[in-house]
Amino acid sequence: MLSVEEGNLRTWSPERMYLPTPSWFRHHAAVKRLNDYVSGLIERRWALRRGERTQPQPCNRREDVLDKVLSAIADADWGPEAIRQVRDEVKTFILAGHETSASMLAWTLYELTNNPECLEKVRAEAAQVFAKRKLTNVPARGDLDALRYTEVGG
Ligand code: HEM
Repeated sequence: MLSVEEGNLRTWSPERMYLPTPSWFRHHAAVKRLNDYVSGLIERRWALRRGERTQPQPCNRREDVLDKVLSAIADADWGPEAIRQVRDEVKTFILAGHETSASMLAWTLYELTNNPECLEKVRAEAAQVFAKRKLTNVPARGDLDALRYTEVGG
């Protein structure tokens, strides 16, 4: 993605932030496009949620993380500033949180499949720690702390 590439380049050449080069303008246009897209999603979801509140029939829609964030905002606080703040949180979840965690998991699984001994230890630890939970249950924070080998190795 254009903006991510520009962000990476700025790590080594921070002056790129201030120089009005063609790539500076392309970056700003790309950021605006992304911001408008995400703000549009948020505004549509807010409108959907408002509509659902006035519907006589309960809605069976499955709520996601955006619903959880929006449910914390009072009607009186809704406006451009709230939209901007939620937009930035969504961008953090997706751009900072999703790709990093996904590639960390992908590489971890790759390394484990190349090291069957370690894989076996991780599997055994998971089986022991999660034994009390059904597969559909989300683990508790304490369960994760108990994954000593998985977290720090042997
Ligand atoms: C394995 C997963 C992750 C890795 C490897 C990772 C890596 C990094 C790195 C290297 C930085 C510093 C970037 C820099 O200063 O140039 C950073 C910053 C940041 N990360 Fe992550 N991250 C991960 C997960 C997450 C998650 C899940 C979130 C939030 C949902 C998150 C939010 C942030 C934020 C907000 C910053 C900027 C902090 C600041 O300087 O103000 N990251 N991350």
